[in-house]
Amino acid sequence: MANTAFQPRVFSGIQPSGGLTLGNYLGALKRFTTMQNEGNFETIYCMVDLHAITVWQDPETLKRNTRELCAGFIASGVDPEKSILFNQSQVPEHAQLAWVFNTVARMGWLNRMTQFKDKAGKNRENASVGLFAYPSLMAADILIYHATHVPVGDDQKQHLELTRDIAAKFNHDYGVDFFPITEPVIEGAATRVMSLRDGSKKMSKSDASDMSRINMTDDADTIAAKLRKARTDPDALPSEVAGLAERPEARNLINIYAAFSDMTPEQVLADVGGKQFSEFKPMLAELAVSKLSPISSEMSRLMQDQGEIDKILSRGAERAREITEPILAKTYDIVGMVR
Ligand code: TRP
Repeated sequence: MANTAFQPRVFSGIQPSGGLTLGNYLGALKRFTTMQNEGNFETIYCMVDLHAITVWQDPETLKRNTRELCAGFIASGVDPEKSILFNQSQVPEHAQLAWVFNTVARMGWLNRMTQFKDKAGKNRENASVGLFAYPSLMAADILIYHATHVPVGDDQKQHLELTRDIAAKFNHDYGVDFFPITEPVIEGAATRVMSLRDGSKKMSKSDASDMSRINMTDDADTIAAKLRKARTDPDALPSEVAGLAERPEARNLINIYAAFSDMTPEQVLADVGGKQFSEFKPMLAELAVSKLSPISSEMSRLMQDQGEIDKILSRGAERAREITEPILAKTYDIVGMVR
């Protein structure tokens, strides 16, 4: 089915399961803001708290992380007037549609999900049922808006394929053209931010070493120190991207520089090729601090007014429900629920 029948609509979500890192900013938030401002799409952004509790979350910390994530969205440029910005649990249709999708998705499909295998680890018997069913809730997040485009990291590709499979099976089983087949909008390699200690690992809020990541709440001195101490190799920077092939740490720092300056890695290397890291790292630190400080100070300003954040979230949820209520009602009708 052609998606032209559906209005262009972007949906994406971030779990409020820990502090925000540079990876969240360059890989997601910055792009969310661009998509909002380009004006080709209606944009809907969600703090997926129901997903977060598929692994244990301390309740007070979860509340704090949800509000901090909301502040992070806004400080990064997501405008709660232009976009719909809310937390998942305030829009009950997500969970309601997820239940229907639990009856559409097959055990075999979910069994193949690599994120489940990674997160469950060796002790699968002890993983929550919610962790197993995580992808059908994610499909519901997207399809309860009839979203056509979903910007996500590479690691979410498999979940998006499952979303397409669920939509297609639902449409087929019930003989309807109701759910769109959503397009993934996968980030370019240049915005996949890697650990500052190991260029082959993704920058992560759960890494044991705080030196491996830049947190959105780090102050200028901390950001500069972390970049100065970032692992590198002893060689000078190459003038062309091919020269980064076997140098993951060098590539990561160049990618970060490129993402901050809205340049391609090629353009950056044309400028800095031949420089030693001792010269390049301070340039990168200055750039990173100049871009991140306004965001982190705006975040802490917003965090001082919890009432304001909560108001924004509940207003966002109200706007979201204008879309989700009729789509759930129609779904129930298709499935055969008496209303
Ligand atoms: N699973 C996503 C992640 O961990 C978060 C997420 C939940 C999401 N629902 C979504 C992303 C819907 C995009 C669309 O990154």
